[in-house]
Amino acid sequence: MKHAFDLGNNLEMNHYIEELNIAKKASAEASLIINEYAEKASLNVQLKGKNDLVTDADLASEKKIIQILKEAYPSDQILAEESTPKTVLPDGRIWIIDPIDGTTNFAHAFPAYCVSIALWEEKRPKVALVLEVANQELFTATEGGGAFLNGQPIQVSNNEDPSASLIGTGFPYRDLHLVDNYLKLFKKMMDKTHGVRRPGTAAWDLCNVACGRFEGFYEYGLSAWDVAAGALIIKEAGGVISDWENSDNWLFGERIIAGNRAIHEFILEEIATCFEEHQLVKK
Ligand code: IPD
Ligand code: CA
Ligand code: CA
Repeated sequence: MKHAFDLGNNLEMNHYIEELNIAKKASAEASLIINEYAEKASLNVQLKGKNDLVTDADLASEKKIIQILKEAYPSDQILAEESTPKTVLPDGRIWIIDPIDGTTNFAHAFPAYCVSIALWEEKRPKVALVLEVANQELFTATEGGGAFLNGQPIQVSNNEDPSASLIGTGFPYRDLHLVDNYLKLFKKMMDKTHGVRRPGTAAWDLCNVACGRFEGFYEYGLSAWDVAAGALIIKEAGGVISDWENSDNWLFGERIIAGNRAIHEFILEEIATCFEEHQLVKK
């Protein structure tokens, strides 16, 4: 595992230190906005689709983040959930933004929601930031520079025993056609691990793997902005992320497994016993 305090890695990290600082500034401003909305007596909550919420805070947070990134890097492109939800990556530099990951939590004042910002270049994540707003946990990573929680280096768990592992997941809530398979898997996980958690914010779920609270994580139905930052943070913390076919198509693949190497493998095998082959990939 590489860390920022190694000289060679410092050089690499410094290559993106300015971008990371701009992302920190954007997330701090967004966090202030989100907290202002959190204190309001009522919140304007709209439905984008079945159980798919958006609030004024999502829109205001996204506007502020884009404004700060565009001021700093006018020619960079933006992929943001509420205004530019692309499903392919254009060439060049692109910022992938989730202005509030965990909107349902936020709308119900359940304290687990994040700002997620990632910079992609050469079709790879270079800079990643997830700020869990309610508890002010700031997770950051740069390619080759290690992963950090509030400035301290983090690592995935070294617990490789599934029966002693804690697993994160997300419950299906929009597309329910695979629920029976999902419940079969859920039952296996309940039986074979210490337990399963569903915090309700995929970006933070991935960070919980990166800092060793969860040994692994799986979900289906995710979008690029849910995983773009958390994925680099996991990789830089020594973990593994893939789609359900164990390939690298996790950004747009919608089906995600993450974990330390052994628990990633364990989840991959359990998924294969609960889903048909054609269900492992989004058609
Ligand atoms: C959602 C959260 C949730 C996950 C959903 C996402 P949003 O993001 O990450 O944990 O289960 O699939 O859509 O809508 O709150 O940004
Ligand atoms: Ca999200
Ligand atoms: Ca969101």
